[in-house]
Amino acid sequence: MTSSFYVTTPIYYVNDAPHIGHAYTTVAADVLARYHRRRGFRVHFQTGTDEHGQKMQRAAEERGVTPRELADRNARSFQELWGRMNISYDNFIRTTEPRHEQGVAALYRQMAAQGDIYLGEYEDWYCVPDETYYTELQLVDGKCPMCRRPVEKVKEESYFFRMSRYQDRLLQYLNQHPEFVQPETRRNEIMSFVAGGLRDLSISRISFTWGIPVPDNPRHVIYVWLDALANYLTALGYPDRESEGFRAFWPSAVHLIGKDILRHHAVYWPCFLMSVGLPLPKTIFAHGWWTHEGRKMSKSLGNFVNPQVMIDRYGLDPFRYFLLREVPFGGDGDFSEAALKRRINSELANDLGNLLSRVGGMATKYSDGYMARPGPLDRLDQDLRQTAEETLAQVDHAFAIFDFYRALDLIWILVNQTNKYVDRSAPWTLAKDPAKKERLGTVLYCAAESLRLLALLIAPFMPNAAERMWDQLGLPEPIEKQPWSEASRWGALPPGARLHKGPALFPRLE
Ligand code: MSP
Repeated sequence: MTSSFYVTTPIYYVNDAPHIGHAYTTVAADVLARYHRRRGFRVHFQTGTDEHGQKMQRAAEERGVTPRELADRNARSFQELWGRMNISYDNFIRTTEPRHEQGVAALYRQMAAQGDIYLGEYEDWYCVPDETYYTELQLVDGKCPMCRRPVEKVKEESYFFRMSRYQDRLLQYLNQHPEFVQPETRRNEIMSFVAGGLRDLSISRISFTWGIPVPDNPRHVIYVWLDALANYLTALGYPDRESEGFRAFWPSAVHLIGKDILRHHAVYWPCFLMSVGLPLPKTIFAHGWWTHEGRKMSKSLGNFVNPQVMIDRYGLDPFRYFLLREVPFGGDGDFSEAALKRRINSELANDLGNLLSRVGGMATKYSDGYMARPGPLDRLDQDLRQTAEETLAQVDHAFAIFDFYRALDLIWILVNQTNKYVDRSAPWTLAKDPAKKERLGTVLYCAAESLRLLALLIAPFMPNAAERMWDQLGLPEPIEKQPWSEASRWGALPPGARLHKGPALFPRLE
């Protein structure tokens, strides 16, 4: 039976245009999706937009358009950006679609049927930009403890979800499932938060209208986070829990998110799911935040990194690479164009790009590009082969723990070893001695074989560059054509393949 893999990004607010924070999670999810597809998993990669709520209603009012017009416009800009960024999502959900609205109403009814919803009055603070409730005690200097923006006093009739009921079960679950919230530091944060006690959660609002009406009391709209989180289910066809797709994918869910929305995902969401008797997602992984040239990105500074601009300037694959190479996933990091250029020139152009053009150039010069059947492997060849094989296994492990940074580190160790292999084997010297013809063929073969495995390894991160490498190695496209077990085997490069020198894989920047 093939295993299933369900990976999600947060659904993004459409009050504004996409920026690097959105691109970051989405690229990470894309890399995971591509890797798992290649490894033979049945994959569902889900993304979309979060379109309801007070923030959206206000943003639309400020711009003098309807919330739906604003949502349509910005949802399109997310879809266009993902198209340009080679994001291989399987499904895009908008929370204003009927399939979603009906699913949310059904979820709400089921929670109510469990006796988990009651009518009361909410009286505390609300942060509109974060769409999140806070008590007086949680505020920091009277401001939102998460984003430090002003909060608003809310006093209104509200439906509540009995979250307190689930505190013990959630704590027990967290204890028994170390893989549930990652990385470890985030898990600890959530455990102490839950241990500190869960209050019932306000899940409806009456002071604005842009949302999904509460079933049986349309004066209220459903809290935007209950609405939004439900997308992970409705996108799979919920409330139909029996469909083949739902049963296959739901329990394998991996939610990639930013650290600022951890509590919603690791506390509220599991409690909602327990209420309706659904299994919890397998993993919630919270990554860190980017600053830009050392400063926090904000509307007032107007310094959000625009992914489209970076792609136009530096190319798509280098940008994708940089996002996952610069900072360990889970940590915070800084985006600077100087750092991006440095990595392009040294790691992409110099280490990998040059390796490909050197090997392609020598093969063209010494054997008209043709790969000979390799002779017996000597010590140097064996070492290269062993590193390549170990790299494949170690990268697999890095993917299992969402360690993209480590995966790329390992891949570049192989790049560098292959460069050294070429230096030490000195094909240019072998070429001078007709008696060394077989040895020359073996060296070129081993170098090309390592490059082929490198193309396979970088493919989830840089799909276009990998295809171009594949092409220059004279291999039939697409790169996914062969099953993984065959493609990942050292020696699968067919003798007779014809290498050719193409344009530079990554042009150097001044
Ligand atoms: N709509 C909610 C998510 C609902 S999911 C059921 C939301 N949307 S958002 O558009 O504001 O943010 C989406 C993601 O972008 C979050 O994961 C957030 O962490 C991420 N980022 C926003 N700014 C960021 C950085 N500066 N750096 C990295 N990621 C950042 O929240």
